Amino acid sequence: MLGNFTYSNPTKLYFGKDALDSLSAELENYGKNVMLVYGGGSIKKNGIYQKVVKILKACGKNIVEDGGVMPNPTAEKLYEGAEIARTHNVDLILAVGGGSVCDYSKAVSVSAYCKEDPWDKYFIRFEDVSCDIIPVGCVLTMVGTGSEMNGGSVITNHKQKLKIGHVFGDNVFPKFSILNPEFTYTLPKYQMTAGIYDIMSHILEQYFSGTDDNTSDYIAEGLLRSLIVSARAAVKNPEDYEARSNIMWTATWALNTLIAKGKTTDWEVHMLGQAVGAYTDATHGMTLSAVSMPYYRHIMPYGLEKFARYAVNVWNVNPDGKTKKEVAEEGLIAMESWMKEIGLVMNISDLGATEDMLEGIASATFINEGGYKILDKNEVTEILKESL
Ligand code: NZQ
Ligand code: ZN
Repeated sequence: MLGNFTYSNPTKLYFGKDALDSLSAELENYGKNVMLVYGGGSIKKNGIYQKVVKILKACGKNIVEDGGVMPNPTAEKLYEGAEIARTHNVDLILAVGGGSVCDYSKAVSVSAYCKEDPWDKYFIRFEDVSCDIIPVGCVLTMVGTGSEMNGGSVITNHKQKLKIGHVFGDNVFPKFSILNPEFTYTLPKYQMTAGIYDIMSHILEQYFSGTDDNTSDYIAEGLLRSLIVSARAAVKNPEDYEARSNIMWTATWALNTLIAKGKTTDWEVHMLGQAVGAYTDATHGMTLSAVSMPYYRHIMPYGLEKFARYAVNVWNVNPDGKTKKEVAEEGLIAMESWMKEIGLVMNISDLGATEDMLEGIASATFINEGGYKILDKNEVTEILKESL
């Protein structure tokens, strides 16, 4: 049964090959000072930077640049960005990049005028925003996180060895996001497949929870089926527009709050993956793929009905003459072979994790309560050992 909920999503999306043409009209809604946020330079190599700067200049904007946002943006970088935004009286933060750039921009938007330490306030104490917020717009170049249409922002604190996400409310969602699938063609294959698994994980985190019958789970199954097909096509031909556009759209719907409505969710794979990320600084999607199979095999007996349904509805397992357990296991085998086929990392040791880190990673793993089994610390360590 669906629980009670309120649904709204304030982000306006422009999707397709001409999506960037809408930027000028959007810019009219904001003042002169635009903070242009980007990552390590991919947008300069593929020409997206030049296109965006040309539009900003044609619209008469003052550009305040903040480049060098690293994958898994750090608290130190956040302090710097907040200072830049405040001292330049920024009217709009324009994030041009992937999830890291979008997440960072949202964090800066709520930190520029924050009177307290934003890391402590938002990422340790999970408090609401109580200061002015600078609006954010995104031009997406990497697909996976859903950051383009949600309030999520994940920041890493290397000193404290913590990687933590805060899910902000509607007022922090990007005001608009520009999604041109062609902008993702230059992504290295490693990043593309990591993003694909991030999408799958987002859907599964919301799917593998609860025993009720609800619309959200049927939507999730449809998204998963599309993703599995498009991932195979994109791996074969990264410039397959049909596949890349389907993946981009699936990513947005996987984590724009829709499929979580009215149901419980898990998010334990992300808790494990983020703790691995805090120790290794590895690519987000790969931290998730590396812990997933040991986690799902561990919790499968506690959520057998759902795992069997997943096997049949998503992986086309034929249930005839088989026990629920056999069907569920076959589903996980099909998932694992698809993961290997598209080139995902299946072990945390391949991401730089070593045995002596396991205790620290286990203590940095938050334990959620929405999944089929609430893990204890020993189980977390066991799953991490199996993931090594
Ligand atoms: O920095 P540049 O030079 O731009 O290179 C990036 C980066 O190295 C590169 N890249 C991006 N677009 C490209 C490109 N290279 C060539 N061509 C392009 N078109 O890809 C690399 C990875 O980019 P990044 O933004 O770090 O990846 P992603 O989008 O996966 O974002 C990861 C961050 O998002 C957080 C993760 O934890 C991680 O910190 N997440 C955010 C979520 C949210 N907001 O809701 C939820 C997710 O679960 C996730 O936790
Ligand atoms: Zn994720």
